Amino acid sequence: MNTKVVKIEREKINDQILLEAARMIREGRLIAFPTETVYGLGANALDPEAAKKIYAAKGRPSDNPLIAHIAGPEDLPPLVAKIPDTAKRLMDAFWPGPLTIIFPKSNNVPYETTGGLDTVAVRSPKDCIAQRLIQLAGVPIAAPSANTSGRPSPTLAEHVYQDMNGKIDMILDGGAVGIGVESTIIDVSGSVPILLRPGAVTLEMLEETIGDVELDQAVLGPVSQGQKPKAPGMKYRHYAPRAELILVEEEGTVSDKVITIIKELTEEKSRQGAKVGIICTDETVSQYTQGVIRSLGSRMREETIAHNLFAVLREFDELEVDYIFSESFPESHLGQAIRNRLTKAAGYHVIEVGENK
Ligand code: TXA
Ligand code: MG
Repeated sequence: MNTKVVKIEREKINDQILLEAARMIREGRLIAFPTETVYGLGANALDPEAAKKIYAAKGRPSDNPLIAHIAGPEDLPPLVAKIPDTAKRLMDAFWPGPLTIIFPKSNNVPYETTGGLDTVAVRSPKDCIAQRLIQLAGVPIAAPSANTSGRPSPTLAEHVYQDMNGKIDMILDGGAVGIGVESTIIDVSGSVPILLRPGAVTLEMLEETIGDVELDQAVLGPVSQGQKPKAPGMKYRHYAPRAELILVEEEGTVSDKVITIIKELTEEKSRQGAKVGIICTDETVSQYTQGVIRSLGSRMREETIAHNLFAVLREFDELEVDYIFSESFPESHLGQAIRNRLTKAAGYHVIEVGENK
C-alpha cells in the first residue's frame, strides 16, 4: 500500500484534502491525523472491518479497545446507553480537550471497536484538524495512538511514517502535537469515578470538578499476571524504547544522590562497552558528562517535559543505545502522567535512592 503524506497548515486548513481524508474514513480506510495529545490512527468507529484493520496495522492485541473521537457532546447519544451526571460535568469542563470518558456502549458501537467490552471510550479532541476531519467524515472516528503496538506514541508525522509507512492510506501532517502524552482516561460508570490513565487533564483538575476520584491499580503500579486492569491497554508494556530504561529517583524526584547514581551507572555500563542514554532536565543537564545526554526541558515547565518525552525515547531508538537512565518527576499535576509513561516504558524498573544508600 502506498501511504500518502499530506501537509496541512493549521492557520488555513485545506478542506479539499480533509474532504478526501473524510471520504476515505467513510470507505473503511485508515488515516493518521494529529490531535492535541498524540497522532491518532483513524478509522470509522462504527465499521467492524475498519476497526480490524487498525489492529492489524498496529500489531495490537484485539482485546485492547479503541477510543471513539467525536466533534462534541451532541454526537454522543447514539454511541452510549447512558450519560451519567458526572460525565456531563466533565464534558462541560474539559471537552473539547485531552479527556477520554468511558460510557456503557449502545448497540451501534461494534465489539470490534470496544475490544469486546460493553463500554465505549469517547473523546472530543480540540485540535482543529482532528475536529474538521471528524465533522467532514460524519461518523465517529476510532483512533488509537498511531504507533506500532509497544512503541512510544507519535508526536510528529515523521514518527507515524516510521511505524505506519506502507500499512495505512494517508498521514495528515499537521506538525508537532501540543501536549505530547495521551489523553486522561476516566471511568464514571460506577459509584466512584476511576482514573484509568493520567494525562493533561490532571487528577487535581478532575477532583476540582467532580470531587473524589480513585486511581486504578494500573496507574499505581505494575499489573500482576491474572489481574485485569480496567483499561486493557494498561497491562501491556507500552511506550517502550528498545533499550533497557531504568528510572532513578529519591522521594519521587531528582537529587544530588540520584545524579551521582546515574553517573556511576553510566560509567559502569560504558566501561562494559554499552551505549548509554541519559534523560535529564535543564536544571541538571550540566552535571552529566558521559553518555548521550538529553534534557526534556525545565522542571519548572512540565508541559515542555511532556511534550518532548516520546520524541526523546524514539531518538534513543534511532541512536541504538543499550541503556537509558532517567531522572524522575513528582507524581502530581502533569508530573503524574509523565512519571506514569516513564515507569511503564521502564517496565517499572525504578531505583529508589534511599537514605541508607
Ligand atoms: O490521546 C489519546 O487518547 C490518543 C489520541 C489519538 O486521541 N489515543 C490513544 O489511544 O491514546 P490508545 O488506543 O493508544 O489508548 C487507548 C487506551 C487503551 O489503554 C485502552 O485500553 C483504553 O484506552 N480504553 C479504550 N476503551 C476502553 C474501555 N471501554 N474501557 C477501558 N479502557 C478503554
Ligand atoms: Mg497507544
